[in-house]
Amino acid sequence: MSISTITVIGGGTMGNGIAHVAAQSGFMVTLVDVSEAATERAIKTITTNLERQVKKETITAEQMAEVLGRISTATDLEKGATGADLVIEAASERLEIKRQIFATLDRVCKPEAILASNTSSISITELAGGTSRADKFIGMHFFNPVPVMKLCEIIRGLATSDETYATIKSMAETMGKVPVEVQDYPGFISNRILMPMINEAVYCVMEGIASVEDIDTVMKLGMAHPMGPLTLADFIGLDVCLSIMEVLHTGLGDSKYRPCPLLRKMVAAGHLGRKTGKGFYSY
Ligand code: 3HC
Repeated sequence: MSISTITVIGGGTMGNGIAHVAAQSGFMVTLVDVSEAATERAIKTITTNLERQVKKETITAEQMAEVLGRISTATDLEKGATGADLVIEAASERLEIKRQIFATLDRVCKPEAILASNTSSISITELAGGTSRADKFIGMHFFNPVPVMKLCEIIRGLATSDETYATIKSMAETMGKVPVEVQDYPGFISNRILMPMINEAVYCVMEGIASVEDIDTVMKLGMAHPMGPLTLADFIGLDVCLSIMEVLHTGLGDSKYRPCPLLRKMVAAGHLGRKTGKGFYSY
């Protein structure tokens, strides 16, 4: 099936990045969020990020206008999704919310439309099971900042068809991403490896092995990571890191995935990283 119109659900960090890159790759995009204030905020962020590209001369001002011209917004999920060939859900990372969204999408979208989730840790097979089109359901996991990071993990649920996988792989390539095929297991590849590293860095802080800055310096200068694990944890959100560790711990049942008590304590204190102004660093 060929994709030309895409609906993105959620205008937050991931959703606005996905809408930005999809529109820049020539797709017609409808961005859906719960309020006009939220869709306006998303368009403002996309505009700022496009202006950054114009300033760097990677795109022209005319191209920026064309990209923005390909994005429309909606606050009504049903109206925003009916005409889509593909819906990419990037709503908040809560199973109940995603289930409700996909039940609605399954009802209103055309039968051949593909439903994708940008979830970082919820089972694609489980989300697909709540729809009548598990064969046309798939995971498309992008990375923050979406306009910069080249990877897209493509997660196959138990019933995802080969045709759906092939369509989405080619669509991710058209978006300039490098797709990696992943089977549906907790954390997929990225978070199965990344989160235990971040969790171990938090243990190093808790055990007083080194300072926050020095732990980050080791991984930046010793392993050439662009951000140290604690800076990255603040960037992702400590609540998100904790919730993914819980998914790994529950889903894989191995004590090596137990979340660090300091991570739990910081989340309980509301020190969630950049978004609350305080995490391992102050912002
Ligand atoms: N939108 C568009 N472009 C952006 C951007 C954004 N939000 N943020 C940065 N950029 C661009 C800049 O314009 C710049 O472009 P240039 O190379 O053409 O000059 C380039 O990205 C680098 O940005 P900066 O010079 O401002 O800053 P840095 O060199 O420090 O890079 C960074 C910033 C790209 C965020 C880099 O620090 C990095 O790669 N960090 C690691 C990010 C990472 O690991 N992300 C994955 C998180 S995990 C995830 O998302 C999955 C989830 O499941 C948890």
